Amino acid sequence: MNRTRRLRKSEGIRRLVRENKLTTDDLIYPLFIEEGIGIEKEIVSMPGIKRYSLDKIDKELDEIVALDIPAVLLFGIPSEKDDTGTETWNDQGIMQQAIRYIKKHYPSLYVITDVCFCEYTSHGHCGVIHDNDVDNDATLVNLAKQVISHAKAGVDMVAPSGMMDGTIATIREALDQTGFYNLPIMGYSVKYASAFYGPFRDAADSAPTFGDRRTYQMDPANRDEGLREATFDDSEGADILMVKPALSYLDIIRDLKNTYDRPIACYNVSGEYAMVKAAAEKGWIDGERVMMESLLSMKRAGADIIITYFAKEVASILQNNTKPTN
Ligand code: PBG
Repeated sequence: MNRTRRLRKSEGIRRLVRENKLTTDDLIYPLFIEEGIGIEKEIVSMPGIKRYSLDKIDKELDEIVALDIPAVLLFGIPSEKDDTGTETWNDQGIMQQAIRYIKKHYPSLYVITDVCFCEYTSHGHCGVIHDNDVDNDATLVNLAKQVISHAKAGVDMVAPSGMMDGTIATIREALDQTGFYNLPIMGYSVKYASAFYGPFRDAADSAPTFGDRRTYQMDPANRDEGLREATFDDSEGADILMVKPALSYLDIIRDLKNTYDRPIACYNVSGEYAMVKAAAEKGWIDGERVMMESLLSMKRAGADIIITYFAKEVASILQNNTKPTN
């Protein structure tokens, strides 16, 4: 008889036939950096995650480095907003200050910036508004200015998240023309208009003041369109393709993994984090096991890289597991 249980009999054989493994090398940790001083603010809907001003961030960065997490993804929260998000390309802006600070004091940490406008615009949308909607091509012009400013500050990789058409081509060209041809781009290639971003919008102060993001982010009903989006990013030269959110979109992660010869990333977003934390707090689930199982499922789906608020917890568990016992 065929008996699949033979290979499940003990931990030894389970280890030998295990197909996927989560490692610290897979992880990117998002960081919220707020302009100002003395800020260390809990985000209520994301237990364990805080907003920091740069003078308060060392403890967090020390931990990330000690846990051997390879990379951080920065989100900036400026003190001033306006209708086009001009602060995004201010060379003295909070993002630019953060890049310079981290690269100077923590040179081994790989710094990626989220390139968008929603934290910087008074209306909370991801670009320039014309006729009550985000104007794609006007936003592209500003995107180029933003990435060049990040590049000059010394960022290691940029990750545009605004879902404007032509983003990757525009940014690639802008970077190449200014000599930053070696700076990679991670596209938020397949990003859905998702209710799972709720807690993030508190964290980053980026909720739209009118309407929603459905004219630029994708309809959660669509799968084929995900391939179309990723094909554009792939052909425009995105170095890494990302799917966001992760858990409800594992099919899309697998589609991309099967289709493109590029590293695939996924973003385990704020709502996914909040749900696990809330249920664990109530004692309804084993939070740690659900966390590990969810992240493993993203790897199994095909993600090479996982952006997650759980990164520190996961890295700490993995680190303790690999410690020699003698
Ligand atoms: C901004 C951006 C968002 C997230 C990452 N970049 C929010 C949005 O699109 O509304 C969501 C991250 C999360 O929920 O953890 N462009």
